[in-house]
Amino acid sequence: MSIIEDIKHKVDITEVIGESVSLQKAGRNFRALCPFHAEKHGSFFVFPDRQSWHCFGSCGTGGDVFSFVMRKDNIDFGTALRQLAERAGVMLEREEGERKEDKEREKLFQINEAAAAYYHDVLVNSTMAKGARGYLAGRGFSSETIASFQLGFSPGSVDTLLKYLAGKGFAESDQVAAGVVLEGESGGKHDRFRHRLMFPIRDSNGRVIGFGGRAFGEAQPKYLNSPQTALFDKSSTLYGLDRARASIRKQNLAVVVEGYPDVLMAHQHGFENVVASMGTSLTEKQVSALKKLTTNLILALDADAAGEAATLRGVEVAARAFDQKAVPIPNARGVVVLENVLDAEIRVAVLPQGKDPDEIILEEPSRWGTLVDSAVPMVDYIFEVVAGKYDLSRAGDKSLVVKDLGRVVDGIKDPIRHAHYLQKLARMVNVDERLIQAGIRGQAGQDRKEPRKSGKDEASSPLSFRSPLEEHCLALLVRYPELRGYCKDVPSDYFEQSENRECLGWLQSGGVKVEELDKPLREHLEKLHTRLIPNEREGALKDCISRLKERFLRNAKVRENLSIEEAIAAGDVDRLIRLGEQDVESSASLQNVFIERSHGVRARTK
Ligand code: UTP
Ligand code: MN
Repeated sequence: MSIIEDIKHKVDITEVIGESVSLQKAGRNFRALCPFHAEKHGSFFVFPDRQSWHCFGSCGTGGDVFSFVMRKDNIDFGTALRQLAERAGVMLEREEGERKEDKEREKLFQINEAAAAYYHDVLVNSTMAKGARGYLAGRGFSSETIASFQLGFSPGSVDTLLKYLAGKGFAESDQVAAGVVLEGESGGKHDRFRHRLMFPIRDSNGRVIGFGGRAFGEAQPKYLNSPQTALFDKSSTLYGLDRARASIRKQNLAVVVEGYPDVLMAHQHGFENVVASMGTSLTEKQVSALKKLTTNLILALDADAAGEAATLRGVEVAARAFDQKAVPIPNARGVVVLENVLDAEIRVAVLPQGKDPDEIILEEPSRWGTLVDSAVPMVDYIFEVVAGKYDLSRAGDKSLVVKDLGRVVDGIKDPIRHAHYLQKLARMVNVDERLIQAGIRGQAGQDRKEPRKSGKDEASSPLSFRSPLEEHCLALLVRYPELRGYCKDVPSDYFEQSENRECLGWLQSGGVKVEELDKPLREHLEKLHTRLIPNEREGALKDCISRLKERFLRNAKVRENLSIEEAIAAGDVDRLIRLGEQDVESSASLQNVFIERSHGVRARTK
């Protein structure tokens, strides 16, 4: 299977489109208001069976998941390829240009690593850091922990690190790019972190990508983190993951805490499956990273944070402000979204009020084990908290509970779990399940973005994303440049697969500079080269183009029928008349295709 096909197999078009378009179920398909043009009636369709989309309205175009993303984000095929490959977890081979990028990244790694070594040296050896050493010892961190996590201290002066790194040959502009040095408005540069306890943040391979700097004293914010850089993306990083990987795999369980110090103390006491979210709500990217190691997640939250997370509102506001603490979970609905990503249940271990994991572990390590063991499914916890806020003997309160929890239940993709919680909700308010289900559906219509059931489940038969007709046509054109004149006016919409559309576009623009195409596309072209070609090439090509046109027009008729049905349902007479005219036209075009073809056959057999 080619890389492009592989990606199409691994991403679900309904899911991708559902993220930005509010899809409504329409039979086996989904419909929506077209995201590409303004309209009142939805003429945009997604066909899960074929993993394709089409706008039957004024766009009159469609395609596969690639063409959707390209159009929506206004990006080229190569960019869409990289985006979707990442989403699908498909590795793309690195290209020349990217190797240069690798060199840049390597430099940033080296700068971050040099900075980490420097801060660590200051912490361990400098008289400047005497207070910091005492502070860490007072909190119970051993010198082994300090060494193995390479904790550090940043001096209070303006440019000590900058000068140190410059002395090692690192350009100031690279130091800025690495995030350790700040450029002021007047162009002056100074150290980003000053007078702070430094926690180097590593990627899952253990390389330093950034820092969390804890104020030593009253400075604000309490933690200053590295900015987003080519290496550091807060939303996809988990602190301690490099150290926790093996243990998470072995125990088949990951525990997520809030703070850097909590990770240190856990590891110091042998609880090595502990990682921290980066001061933001746990994100889908972070959960995806964990999913490679385990599907058992426990969030260790203090009572306040857990209570907050269990409610539906409020938390995200706090998370938005940069460098602010937020509970490591978005909100009740967010939990369910993450569970869907994880394809498993997330549990919560509620910590005693006002105590961070590091304190609990330091005081009584065994208590940590007990807390983790007693974790409860997050959704159950949410039920409990929400129910506790209402008086369930009152009809009005019941309805509010159903509204709040219904949203949560509605988000659960797994059918068994969905049914389980639906039942639980029904019992809780003592109302018939069907009634609740109906209520949820009505509400979902108003506020649901993503369709719950994706069109592409594991069980469905493997789809083919190849079109022999398209490939045959392209093969002829690729092999025999003298035929390319025939494809000059062929609309790209005749091709449904994006890689074929790209190849057509390349041929139409002269078919030169093949080395500038993305590698998967070049591989696709090579494959086309090896296809068997009949002797009578010109006739074969004309035939192909004619069949592509026929297919296109037939699809157009299917579309028209869909629109006609809808116009009838909406009682839209004007539209019906227009559609009727269109229908006559497309029937005529289709007929023309057949007439042309029979002439062609006669001409050839003469
Ligand atoms: P806390 O405020 O709970 O601090 O933030 P902490 O980790 O318990 O640190 P100590 O024990 O007081 O020393 C929890 C986490 O949230 C992020 C950091 O990752 C921190 O470890 N955070 C917090 C920020 O990113 N920025 C902030 O301003 C505060
Ligand atoms: Mn703490």
